[in-house]
Amino acid sequence: MLIPDDTPPLLELSGYSIRFATPDGEVRAVSEMDLAVRPGETLAIVGESGSGKSQTFNGVFGLLARNGRASGAARLEGRDLLALKSRDLDKVRGREMAMVFQDPMTALNPAMKIKRQLAETLEVHQGLGRREAEVQSLAMLKRVGIPDAERRIEQYPHELSGGMRQRVVIAMALLCRPKILVADEPTTALDVTIQAQILELFAELTAGSGTALVLITHDLGVVAGVADRIAVMYAGRIVEEGAVDDVFAAPAHPYTAALLASIPRVDRDVGAVEPIPGRPPNLIHPPAGCAFHPRCRSAIERCATERPPLEAVAQEGRAGPVRRAACWRPFVDASRGTGYGSAPGTGYGSAPGTGTGSVERTATETALHV
Ligand SMILES: Nc1ncnc2c1ncn2[C@@H]1O[C@H](COP(=O)(O)OP(=O)(O)O)[C@@H](O)[C@H]1O
Ligand code: SF4
Ligand SMILES: [Mg+2]
Repeated sequence: MLIPDDTPPLLELSGYSIRFATPDGEVRAVSEMDLAVRPGETLAIVGESGSGKSQTFNGVFGLLARNGRASGAARLEGRDLLALKSRDLDKVRGREMAMVFQDPMTALNPAMKIKRQLAETLEVHQGLGRREAEVQSLAMLKRVGIPDAERRIEQYPHELSGGMRQRVVIAMALLCRPKILVADEPTTALDVTIQAQILELFAELTAGSGTALVLITHDLGVVAGVADRIAVMYAGRIVEEGAVDDVFAAPAHPYTAALLASIPRVDRDVGAVEPIPGRPPNLIHPPAGCAFHPRCRSAIERCATERPPLEAVAQEGRAGPVRRAACWRPFVDASRGTGYGSAPGTGYGSAPGTGTGSVERTATETALHV
């Protein structure tokens, strides 16, 4: 569901950064991020491997490696999670926010029957008695589509397939009715048909419940039918965000355009798929200016020295969530009829957005946050 921009956020990151200390120097995994997640929305966080997607939320959940440190603010309904003592954060983690990881075995105890693992979650976090906790656990297993749930609940994790295990983990995460559920590449280890089923399950289970779903993935292809909004990350920063349909129809940032051109799509020839040239940047010594400039076909001199801020780009004639891009030359919607003339296409294969114009922001536009 597309949630209006003026809805108070459930989770709000501001000036949020994550640094890791290493013998080679400081890794700038996430830098000065501002991001709002609103109740009831499904937000996809997308970007190449290493762009900072997982660490952003590991930091929110207090799950960073020991050499990592989060700074800035991460507020859940106004409370700064970064300021909480670990005991208090533990409580928030079980009751108000839950995370599902790529490998279901990280969340499951191989030596414990499914029933006990699920029921224990409810006993610990909701204070339910054993009997009631087991009844609710079985009901949830049925809701997540596990066939023959009465038999499965008596089994150990290794007796289930990968897809079934991930359903159990989703059941466990949903049992406490979290306000926000973060799924980090939850389907990457599963085959394609199971992936689709699991994503549908997420959508179905969170629809209408007010639970916000954050779907982290390196695979743009999986978010199209599932997410409402998308935030694209590059080198630890959000480079573009907006409604999924708008971003897919006409990416404003060259990196988004390149990502879209690099995935196979049913509406396009296989030959049209174009990998992004070059490599993701080194986060100990990130490039100056726009971190994407060494790989960007639209780069101009300024891109190598000045970092573009994440700012609203005009999308006249479209309602919906504000569209932001961090680029000195965002592609602007051709339908605007801006009179910018025959601006060049995006230059990225047959990425949607080809044929829309790229225009350099003027100082006035930048100042006006156009
Ligand atoms: N404990 C660590 N020490 C040093 N660097 C780390 C550590 N954990 C993650 N990183 C680095 O942080 C960056 C962001 O990682 P991550 O958020 O996991 O990326 P992804 O977008 O693939 O989820 C990567 O460059 C990764 O190598
Ligand atoms: S700021 Fe420059 S280098 Fe960065 S994406 Fe935009 S055009 Fe490309
Ligand atoms: Mg990751």
